[in-house]
Formats: sequence, structure tokens, C-alpha cells
Amino acid sequence: MTKITWLGHNAWSLQTAGTTILVDPFLNDSPTAPVKAEAVNADYILLSHGHSDHVGDTISIARRTGAKVICNFEVSQWLAKKGVAEDKLVGMNPGGGTAQPFGHVKFTIAHHSSSMPDGSYGGVPGGFLLTLEDHRIYFACDTALFLDMKLIGAAGLDLAVLPIGDLYTMGPDDSIDAVKLLNPKRVAPCH
Ligand code: NI
Ligand code: MN
Repeated sequence: MTKITWLGHNAWSLQTAGTTILVDPFLNDSPTAPVKAEAVNADYILLSHGHSDHVGDTISIARRTGAKVICNFEVSQWLAKKGVAEDKLVGMNPGGGTAQPFGHVKFTIAHHSSSMPDGSYGGVPGGFLLTLEDHRIYFACDTALFLDMKLIGAAGLDLAVLPIGDLYTMGPDDSIDAVKLLNPKRVAPCH
């Protein structure tokens, strides 16, 4: 049983296998977030790239809850400098993955940018392909449309979470082409 809740923008909360996973927890400064950072629990935080509307409250939530943060390598090093414990950081690069007790997390490619809120280098952006005990879920996060989405969807997706906002990510028309490439059972828009 997996439950997913939209927390505004590209922020999501997943409950699966007794574990709470936050994606891109931009909450306290988000006009669309229904909760404040102080009110959420987390065992894991998946952080797609360095932009402030994704990093959001990652540092405060990670420090308060002891959640493990899964992100790209450069973002993990930046978070370590900001006081997130090194043993709570999993830094990856595109195409890589990490097995965790709740399932597998793969860092997928994204066509976007990734500077940190303070301007430092944020590595490359990504999305997340989650293989959970009962579902496979793809979070595209901030990206343009790309043809390799066909590969991401090839193993079968229960849910694809796609940006539709245009300007900083793909817009509605390209998101419909993304759905055709990914062929998920369900799709959820955001950003
Ligand atoms: Ni971004
Ligand atoms: Mn964004």
C-alpha cells in the first residue's frame, strides 16, 4: 500500500512500507504548500536539484527528523556543509541508483539546470524512478521533454509525476507527449 500526497509545486509525500518519503520539500515559502516544514515527518528526502523551489526546507527537515537525503553528489556535498550529517546523505549521478529498505531509487536524467540557492555549483539535475514493494513511480521533476522517457517507462509505470508549468520546465503540450512516451497507468501534474 502506497499513498501519495501533493504538497504544492514539486513537493510530494509518499507513505510506503511504513516509511515516509518527501520529494523536493519546498514548503514554508511555497504559495501552494498545504503544510509547514515544521509539521511534516520524513524518513527520506529525495531532492532533484539545487534550485530553491526544490531545496526548500530540506536542511531544516533533515536536521530535525534525521531523514536520509538522496540527491546528486554535488548537492549532497553542499548539504553536508550546511550541517546535514554525512551518514544521512546519499549522493548519486544520473543512471545510478541506490537500494534502500523501502525499495530502489534510480536517479534519472533531466534536461534542466542546477545552481544552489547561494549560487554555488549544484551538479546536474535529475528525476527519480522509484521501485517500491507494490508500485513503480517516476518523478520527472524539472525537465524538458526527452525521447529517453520511452526507456524510463519501458518496465511499466503505475504513476508518472510530470511538470506542466512551462517557462522553467516543459509545458502542457509537451507533458502530453511525455505521457505517450512513458505510458503510465496514471499521471499527476505539478510545478
Ligand atoms: Ni529547477
Ligand atoms: Mn523548479
